[in-house]
Amino acid sequence: MAGHGRYNEHSAPQRVAGDIGAQLLANAAAAIPVDGGRGLVIADYGSSQGRNSLDPMRAAIQHLDGRLESSAPISVVHTDLPENDFAALFTTLRDHPGSYMRVRPNVFGFGAGVSFYEQIFPAGWISLGWSSIAVHWISRVPVNIRAHIFSPLAAPEERAAFAEQSAADWRAFLTHRAQELVAGGRLVVVGSGADDTGRSGAEGLLELANRVLRDMVGQEILSPAEYEGMAVPTYYRTEDEFTAPLHDGPLADLLDLESCSSTALSDPLWAEYERTGDLTRYAAGASEFLRAFSEPALFGSFAATWSQEAATKMADEFYGRVTAAIMASPREAACAWRLVVLSIVRRG
Ligand SMILES: C[S@@+](CC[C@H](N)C(=O)[O-])C[C@H]1O[C@@H](n2cnc3c(N)ncnc32)[C@H](O)[C@@H]1O
Repeated sequence: MAGHGRYNEHSAPQRVAGDIGAQLLANAAAAIPVDGGRGLVIADYGSSQGRNSLDPMRAAIQHLDGRLESSAPISVVHTDLPENDFAALFTTLRDHPGSYMRVRPNVFGFGAGVSFYEQIFPAGWISLGWSSIAVHWISRVPVNIRAHIFSPLAAPEERAAFAEQSAADWRAFLTHRAQELVAGGRLVVVGSGADDTGRSGAEGLLELANRVLRDMVGQEILSPAEYEGMAVPTYYRTEDEFTAPLHDGPLADLLDLESCSSTALSDPLWAEYERTGDLTRYAAGASEFLRAFSEPALFGSFAATWSQEAATKMADEFYGRVTAAIMASPREAACAWRLVVLSIVRRG
């Protein structure tokens, strides 16, 4: 995600998604086994800079507060990739007025820079797990997407490679969480998912972005090879793809799927535009939203080959053009992200 706290500032749609799962997390907090005097650990898998984790963590801690003695510590560990902007995360925990650190005494916030496709915690350490809008990021780009940057719009054989990588990653994610959770512990996942045809709900925005990139190739601002090497490393699972490993096989013996539901998220940026009619603000907001999650994936390799300054200049050029394209075609950029929300229990 874009650093220097930029993701925190431009991730309102993700925050709405998290709020949808927060009630499920609160229910899970009310259901996990506790020993009133002993502390417990909550894990937040794929936290980014933490702003969007505050409300769900607060909801969980409020539900635990009545079940634990006030001297029992509640530890929250936010996990993300090592290159995550953990400085912004810790500043948010300390300074944000809505920080869960203020709910009760004996709440402690930590960070862990380890991929969630690996084991992060010792076995049986975690009582409650949370992951919101993170597990659609797959561990690697399995093949170049030649004519696009977004896997739902890739060619069928390219999409199949992404689907295979995604299935392996999701099994790895669940396998490690099964190790880390205590018996009776719960995991709530708010996944950025797909409808039955594999559409994420953001195809309009990503189609627009891809068109802008192809224009830049046509104008020789980007080379064809640079463009072909660009891809957002995400895959959007259908409900069936999310639940398949929990229906049978070794994971089904360890994890019980308590609930799974899907919904489409209304776009808060579009709703604000409809209310205010402020097209300039809408276009800038939608472009910044795109930039906050896609810039490192699309322009990160430029920093390695050229310089950070050159990569940022190229990114400024691209997202500036995206803003102009949204001004010209505002409806196209409106998203209706599909969410798949799962509640999973570690069997005893
Ligand atoms: C869109 S952000 C979501 C952040 C936050 N949970 C929210 O609701 O806004 C996705 C986060 O997942 C992280 N992520 C992607 N792949 C990961 C991995 N393999 N292990 C840990 N975190 C990962 C990204 O670095 C990013 O911070």
